[in-house]
Amino acid sequence: MSRDQIFQHPRAQIVDFVFDESVAGVFPDMIRRSVPGYELVVPMTGLLAARRLCRVDGPLMYDLGCSLGATTLATLRALDALDESSTDLAIHAVDSSAAMLAEAGNGISDGRVRFIEADIRDLILEPCDVVTMNWIMQFLPPEDRLTMLIRIREALKPGGLLIVSEKIHFEDSQQEAFSDSAHLDFKLANGYSELEISQKRSALERVMILDTQNAHLTRFHEAGFGPARVWFQCLNWVSFAVSA
Ligand SMILES: C[S@@+](CC[C@H](N)C(=O)[O-])C[C@H]1O[C@@H](n2cnc3c(N)ncnc32)[C@H](O)[C@@H]1O
Repeated sequence: MSRDQIFQHPRAQIVDFVFDESVAGVFPDMIRRSVPGYELVVPMTGLLAARRLCRVDGPLMYDLGCSLGATTLATLRALDALDESSTDLAIHAVDSSAAMLAEAGNGISDGRVRFIEADIRDLILEPCDVVTMNWIMQFLPPEDRLTMLIRIREALKPGGLLIVSEKIHFEDSQQEAFSDSAHLDFKLANGYSELEISQKRSALERVMILDTQNAHLTRFHEAGFGPARVWFQCLNWVSFAVSA
């Protein structure tokens, strides 16, 4: 796994973060060292998805913002581990970054997985059973998030499942400060320098826009979903399981 050193050296000017070749090349290292719980949330997402997929005939799952396909792979592994025959399964793994999909295609070769290069806001969603959005909603313009969720809710079949994992912020300033400083320690302990952390934060400032947990829950409700549960939280990182 290549080490993320993208923000190691001082930069005269920080430009907005993009998921280009340099990020795709180090992404597994970057996300594990930056996102508390990544190594738990991805396989658990796979398990939650697999449980739903193995209950229906000809199941279809969308992995939106798939990056290198970690969630897709976790779902395939979970189906195997549950010993579920899943030959009629299809997973559409979607990302707008050609660089990410090129790396994903090198790592996953399975006839049930179709990688699609598209902006998920323009994608026509077929009737489906599971949709995963692991750390992508935060990169959509806030004004497009409700519309995206409505389109997902309309595509999900009855009994369908949406998983959304996100970084959140807190209305309570003390809670925000506590989580922020513990997250900073997490990154320092994982070998990032203060310079790297600060330069990356500046690069993400305008492209990664966080909501509160309540804003997420309210939006799921507004989009017409059934019950939404927080099934994982570590500091300011949460994951929701939302019923269609
Ligand atoms: C933090 S990564 C997602 C990580 C991935 N889900 C995982 O579990 O490893 C965010 C991804 O969303 C993609 N992305 C951002 N905006 C997008 C959009 N509008 N349509 C499609 N993909 C998008 C980026 O290219 C990037 O690969």
